[in-house]
Order: sequence, then C-alpha cells, then structure tokens
Amino acid sequence: RPLRILIVGASLRTGSYNVALARLAARRVGETGAEADLVPYAELAVPDYDADAERADGVPPAALAFRDRLRAADALIIAAPEYNHSIPGSLKNLIDWTSRIKPQPFWGGNGMLLSASPSLVGGNRGAWALRVPLEHLGMRVYPEMFSLAQAGQALTPEGEFVDSKLAGRFDTAIEGFLELVEATVRYADLKRR
Ligand code: FNR
Repeated sequence: RPLRILIVGASLRTGSYNVALARLAARRVGETGAEADLVPYAELAVPDYDADAERADGVPPAALAFRDRLRAADALIIAAPEYNHSIPGSLKNLIDWTSRIKPQPFWGGNGMLLSASPSLVGGNRGAWALRVPLEHLGMRVYPEMFSLAQAGQALTPEGEFVDSKLAGRFDTAIEGFLELVEATVRYADLKRR
C-alpha cells in the first residue's frame, strides 16, 4: 500500500508561506507515489485548553479529528511559522489537547518539521521549539529540518520556489524523510508477520 502522510501548514493567513510550503510538500509526496492528506489549518481550531472543559465535555471534536487523521497516516509533516522565536500558540494548544487523548496519538510516530519566514533564519528557531513537545510526546522527529528564508522573495505569488536549486534541496529533504518512514513501516509489517 502507498504511504500516507498527514501535512499541516500551521497558519490561517491568506497567502501564508507555511501553507505554501505544506502544499509543496504535499505535491512532492504525491509525486513519489505516496498519498498526502493536507489539512486546512482552520479545521484544527480548538478552544484554549481548559481542564474543567475537558472533564465536562472531553477533548474537542477538532482534536479528535486530528487524532483520526494522524492514526490514518504513517507520518506527520508540519510547516509552522516562527512566532517570537517559538511556535504559534494555536499549534501548541492543538498539541496539548491532542496529547490528552489515550492512547497518546503522537507516541511512536514519525514527524518532519518545515518552516518559512521573511527572516534570514527562515523560522528555524520555531522548528527547534516544535521539537520539544513532539519529542517529549515520543514522536521521532526527523533530524533534518527545512527552513525557508526570505520566503516572500523565495516563493512566487503562486507558491512555487523561485530558485530551482532550492526546490531540489526541498525535494531531497522530503524524499529522505519518506525513505525513513517507508523503512519504519516495512519493519513494523515484518515484525507483525
Ligand atoms: C512573527 N514573525 C516572526 N518571524 C520570524 O522569523 N521570527 C520571529 O520570531 C517572528 N515572530 C513573530 C511573532 C508574531 C506574533 C507574528 C504575527 C509574526 C513573522 C512571521 O514569520 C511572518 O508573519 C510569517 O509570514 C508567518 O508565517 P505565514 O503566516 O506566512 O505562514
């Protein structure tokens, strides 16, 4: 069966660079023969975490839907903006809610982190910050990250890479991750036999 990759571009902004990066990742995933499930970020909107609300009503439907999509996928790719050298509050809130579900949905999964920003660092500090909760939750976060610097100039208005060399590096990074995911899935299948 083809690999299935859940992809999140963690920004609501019209013309988001990170959503553009998520779309490029989805396209590359598709080109390798795998399936991409690109989630619109608005579908992952959850209220602020509140333990009282959790006790009364349980985990919100959007977090349960995210868990379902995670469960249906072999891996997760997140393209997230860097806000104040860290991750967007909405993304942390989504991770917090989702982490309350049993069995804990991130545990043992494969993840890859992308970022894009107008800065020269490309939001890479945000990607490092995103490793903290995901690795804490037992996700195997791919060592290589892809951070797109000066995203406004690096991407066309249609969301394509301006520089073909950079496009090639992006594709290679995505392919490297998919190879690892494939190996993990095949090993798990072998062990089950
Ligand atoms: C930012 N931005 C930003 N950029 C960056 O490179 N480092 C940073 O620390 C921050 N901090 C920050 C805080 C807040 C609250 C906002 C709203 C923005 C700029 C950010 O990278 C830019 O808005 C991107 O365009 C956001 O990503 P999307 O929406 O284009 O995907």
